[in-house]
Amino acid sequence: MRRILLSLMWRLTRPFLFMLNAERAHRLVMSTLSAAPRLHGFFIRILVGPPRRFSPIMVGGLRLAGPVGLAAGLDKDGEAVSFWPALGFGFIEMGTVTCHAQEGNPGPRLFRLKPEGALINRMGFNNEGAAALAERLAAIRAAGRWPNIPVGANIGKSKITPLENAIDDYLESVRVLAPVVDYFTVNVSSPNTPGLRKLQEAEPLHALLSAVVAAAKELPVLVKFSPDLDDSALSGAVKVAITSGCSGIIATNTTCSRPLTTGRLDETGGMSGAPLWPLSRARLQLILDEANGAIPVIGAGGIRTAAQAQELLDAGCAAVQLYTGLIFEGPGLIHQINDGLKPTE
Ligand SMILES: Cc1cc2nc3c(=O)[nH]c(=O)nc-3n(C[C@H](O)[C@H](O)[C@H](O)COP(=O)(O)O)c2cc1C
Repeated sequence: MRRILLSLMWRLTRPFLFMLNAERAHRLVMSTLSAAPRLHGFFIRILVGPPRRFSPIMVGGLRLAGPVGLAAGLDKDGEAVSFWPALGFGFIEMGTVTCHAQEGNPGPRLFRLKPEGALINRMGFNNEGAAALAERLAAIRAAGRWPNIPVGANIGKSKITPLENAIDDYLESVRVLAPVVDYFTVNVSSPNTPGLRKLQEAEPLHALLSAVVAAAKELPVLVKFSPDLDDSALSGAVKVAITSGCSGIIATNTTCSRPLTTGRLDETGGMSGAPLWPLSRARLQLILDEANGAIPVIGAGGIRTAAQAQELLDAGCAAVQLYTGLIFEGPGLIHQINDGLKPTE
């Protein structure tokens, strides 16, 4: 009954949000949440009750409270950290943040393809910088309000840093964030920072990941891959993730391909949401086969139903993440997915 109320509220709110341009709607929601994240979390709990309890899921040394996580990009600067657990997430990822604060690409840079259930974005890592995120997270820790689920920082390369100095740029983010986060994700797969995806090639990838793993010390380091790598590049990248000591792989990021026949296909950037699912599903299978249990894999890309999440878990993913589904289905989605998953022991 209470879930029905939340779904009704979402049905009334969504048309207003969807009247705004996509980035403005996102900003409006984030500034509302960031003004009182715990209060909004409290209201959600009143409406839907506490999240389903899972036995803790161990992934690369992390203790996830549930198998569904928040993917990077929605809360880049950690504005609503204390809110997300109420939606039912078992872990959450802030970022991508970069060593230097940056504005990102000029707007418009986020597009909603409503009938297709997709987004195209070319945000370009707009963020307040790693130090600002670290400060915000430190304040939450100091106030004793750290969520009881893992909070990760997804880190990327600053635009002003040349590719050959990428490692130092990532390491500076690790240095400032390590005292306050539970894990790192190394993002080498965003399509919106020129040259970034070159870091997925075996040699630079090994150098980068080994350096980050060493600098992160006991904190788990995950790496996030693009769905646009061809088979041999992706297999190679998985091997490098294993040999460089990473604790997990997240796949996939958004795609530069356009697996659609309609919509705003003229816009450049990464596509996420429903049309990404067949591609990310296929790339995940290759990753799972290549990894063969040697490293945990977290599945992402177009997940919108419990059946999709379950399919990935059954295929061998340790957990899943999502972003775009939440934009279209609203705040009840994670509870709905959690409730639809098979019972765990
Ligand atoms: C607007 C937007 C911004 C994103 N920003 C980031 C980011 O900063 N870093 C990152 O690793 N992934 C980013 N992503 C990718 C998501 O984390 C996710 O991997 C991808 O969207 C596929 O999942 P989904 O279909 O559930 O959204 C972004 C996605 C969207 C839609």
